[in-house]
Amino acid sequence: MSKEKIALFTIFGGTGDLAQRKLYPSLFKLYQKGYLQDHFAVIGTARRPWTDEHYHQVVADALASLHADADQVTAFASHFYYQSHDVTDVQHYITLKRLSEKLDAQYELQGNRIFYLAMAPNFFGTIARHLKSEHILTENGFNRVIIEKPFGHDFESAKTLNDELAETFDENQIYRIDHYLGKEMIQNIAAIRFGNNIWESLWNNRYISNVQITLSEKLGVEERAVYYDNSGALRDMVQNHIMQILSLLTMDQPVEFTEDDINIEKVKALRSLRPYQPEEVAKNFVRGQYAPTETVKGYRQEDKISPASNTDTFVAGKVMIDNYRWSGVPFYIRTGKRLADKFTRIDIVFKRPVINIFNHELPDNQAADNGLAPNVLTINVEPTEGFELRMNAKNVGQGFATTPVQLNFDHDATAAANSPEAYERLLHDILNGDATNFTHWQEVAYSWKFIDVIQQYWDDHQPSFPNYKPGTMGPQAAADLLAQDGHRWVYQG
Ligand SMILES: NC(=O)c1ccc[n+]([C@@H]2O[C@H](COP(=O)([O-])OP(=O)(O)OC[C@H]3O[C@@H](n4cnc5c(N)ncnc54)[C@H](OP(=O)(O)O)[C@@H]3O)[C@@H](O)[C@H]2O)c1
Repeated sequence: MSKEKIALFTIFGGTGDLAQRKLYPSLFKLYQKGYLQDHFAVIGTARRPWTDEHYHQVVADALASLHADADQVTAFASHFYYQSHDVTDVQHYITLKRLSEKLDAQYELQGNRIFYLAMAPNFFGTIARHLKSEHILTENGFNRVIIEKPFGHDFESAKTLNDELAETFDENQIYRIDHYLGKEMIQNIAAIRFGNNIWESLWNNRYISNVQITLSEKLGVEERAVYYDNSGALRDMVQNHIMQILSLLTMDQPVEFTEDDINIEKVKALRSLRPYQPEEVAKNFVRGQYAPTETVKGYRQEDKISPASNTDTFVAGKVMIDNYRWSGVPFYIRTGKRLADKFTRIDIVFKRPVINIFNHELPDNQAADNGLAPNVLTINVEPTEGFELRMNAKNVGQGFATTPVQLNFDHDATAAANSPEAYERLLHDILNGDATNFTHWQEVAYSWKFIDVIQQYWDDHQPSFPNYKPGTMGPQAAADLLAQDGHRWVYQG
């Protein structure tokens, strides 16, 4: 059976950064692998008055770093068509409909349409409304819409956005991208948990002491300053990526490994998040903003950022899940800019053996720190992809002192190099109509409800910023957050 997928892509924001950096290279890789062949076409649209020829050159330039065969690039780019218009102008949709029908016939696309909204979210409602009113959606094929973060800036705005989309699209036609869900090791969480009895049988509050999720960035705010300053780390990283990772780590086993069953379990996990009362926020969530050093600008000195900005560039928090499996286990999360290094990791910290029989001289053998290091399972998401397991073993030689040893597994370089990039994987899923690795509305809703309380408390209380040095793992309060429970971050920087 041919693996070729058949579809017309319409990319709103076809001249933008996302389209050029992520979408064109990912579509090309699908083309190289034969998932896209003769029966696909792409309409790129934005206000700039580009010609098709210029557009082909832009697409070819976007592929430069792939060092692909020139004829193959030319053949691929010939499937791209540019349409210049403003999405708020109804005329746009009339010409778009005509071009879509022409390409549908020319490439035999069977009415299959994918609309990629690579634009600011305030346009989503307008675009969706016009796609319906101008009859650009087809009856004979599938219609799927892809949207990017941010999906609202709080629960209310997310609901408004969702209601606007829902006037045109059913939930099963909406693909909300969270590119972390396209990462190899995030997808691997389910395999580790449900494919290994040793883990799933220990994956609960009897054996796990705490869980730590760290999404650490080394760079500062860079070119996304205006967007970021209105968002901050809590909204930009925690509401979506970290909440999604948390739901995959904590959900119960789905009946089957299908989109619907996984969604049911993720929503149950997110519904079990313990909501904070405003007066509990300061004790359980820490915010930070990076300071200047002699060589590095502070956040308030960055281009396009107000010198009085109170935007959080760092968050650490303690999240509790009130259900039978997780009651009492803290999930510590942290993310930020200008930290010690760029990486994403998950540390599952197990409880220590209740007694240390190897060292009777410890003052209280049953104390939390009885001289035996806890077992830690680390899932390295990026840049290294793999696992580490820390265990206690006997020191080589005389005596019976124990020492922590580490078992490592990394994906080998070839497998890692051939591993599709997140956007390629997600576009392939969309072509297949598989929304497993996308965020569903209820997940968005429960995440925002949890986040809104924290953001509101922060908006109502002035922070004392800046409060951390670039190159560290954030403010001291992030370490204190764990220390108050008798824990410490596994990764110290
Ligand atoms: N870039 C990323 O890596 C990234 C990552 C995650 C999420 N996102 C999200 O993805 C979306 C796109 O981001 P981006 O970085 O690609 O933004 P961008 O570079 O600013 O691109 C915006 C696009 O919208 C077009 N546009 C703006 N107003 C328009 C109008 N009235 N009618 C028609 N076209 C219009 C622009 O083209 P013209 O000026 O030619 O009209 C441009 O193609 C945003 O929602 C962003 O938050 C981006």
